[in-house]
Amino acid sequence: MNPFAAVTRGLTEPNRLSDRLREAGPVVVADAPAGGPVWIVTDEELAKQVLSDPRIVKDPAMAPADWDPLVAGLEPPASAFPSLTTVDGPRHTELRRAHTPLLTGKRIREQTGRIEQIARDMLAAQPNGVVDLMVHFTIRYPLTVLLDLLGIPLDKLDATVVACRRLVEGDQSGAIPALMEIAGTAGDDGLAAELRGRLPEGTPEQEVRYHLFGLIFAGQVTTDAALGFVIAHALGAPDGDPVEDALRRYTPAPFSLWRFTSEPLEINGVSLPARAPVLVDLVGLGLTFGSGPHFCIGAQLAQAEMRALVTVLRRDFPEARLAVPFDELVQIGVGGIGGTRLRELPVSLR
Ligand code: HEM
Repeated sequence: MNPFAAVTRGLTEPNRLSDRLREAGPVVVADAPAGGPVWIVTDEELAKQVLSDPRIVKDPAMAPADWDPLVAGLEPPASAFPSLTTVDGPRHTELRRAHTPLLTGKRIREQTGRIEQIARDMLAAQPNGVVDLMVHFTIRYPLTVLLDLLGIPLDKLDATVVACRRLVEGDQSGAIPALMEIAGTAGDDGLAAELRGRLPEGTPEQEVRYHLFGLIFAGQVTTDAALGFVIAHALGAPDGDPVEDALRRYTPAPFSLWRFTSEPLEINGVSLPARAPVLVDLVGLGLTFGSGPHFCIGAQLAQAEMRALVTVLRRDFPEARLAVPFDELVQIGVGGIGGTRLRELPVSLR
């Protein structure tokens, strides 16, 4: 069993890795791609404890000393860019307070009409005949919504798509500065300006842009994958709720992001040294948006985008259908903390 192996499986094939991990016990030791062991938590109570334990931190500076950050897929350390995903404790609470009001359920509900309009316009612009929506829609739709909300000009969409794709392929040094530069073009009347105003006074411009980069990338990579499954279920599964099914069955973030022990400690009787990497098996536990202080800040937005899409498909594209049988769709993933995504999604919209 290698949790970091690339995955190709049919849409309806069960996720055997998650089953096997749970069978192996509440705390499973595996080989990390960047070397040495990683401790994977598969029990729900333990997972919630780990995700809230102040001794288990996110700063990539606490990763094992011999890890290559690129192989491990680590962000820059908090000393370079303090961000929601690299700091903990009071600094994290402060950053969270600045971000939270932007993405509450109420704020997002106010945007429902706008989000539906974006989904409708983007689908209406697709040509007649069969189109692969994983290429022409699922990447661009969540990014369009994000840029629109943040107040970033939509003529930056193509460059944003390219940079996100480069980042998924591992090109951090080129893609992060590109996305930060795009973030810097935000106008004065979107959520980017609001965030800027809510961050502690004196926050350097580069840090503001890194926060915006974080929202853009975190909001794209997961939602893109989830949207493919939503469309497949909306058009191909006879019953069920496409959003619930997509989130539960193909959890876009199968594991938590990397965490590291800041001191030697025990999890369920298992001893971990300091700087031990820890992951939580979110997919097996149904913790789609995580748990604890780092719970997904975009959960409301992601679900609003998915619901808007289902509404628009049913209301405005009643003839839409899959161009291949539902159970012939194939999902692929890089393994590890990356989720799976449909290899292609051929759809005829009209
Ligand atoms: C279906 C879509 C999504 C899924 C499944 C998802 C999942 C997650 C999970 C599991 C975490 C916690 C990671 C951990 O604790 O290690 C997380 C955190 C985060 N998510 Fe999402 N997410 C989604 C969409 C979004 C969107 C649309 C945005 C942006 C608006 C977003 C922004 C973030 C940010 C900034 C964090 C870090 C929060 C923190 O560390 O305090 N996510 N997400």
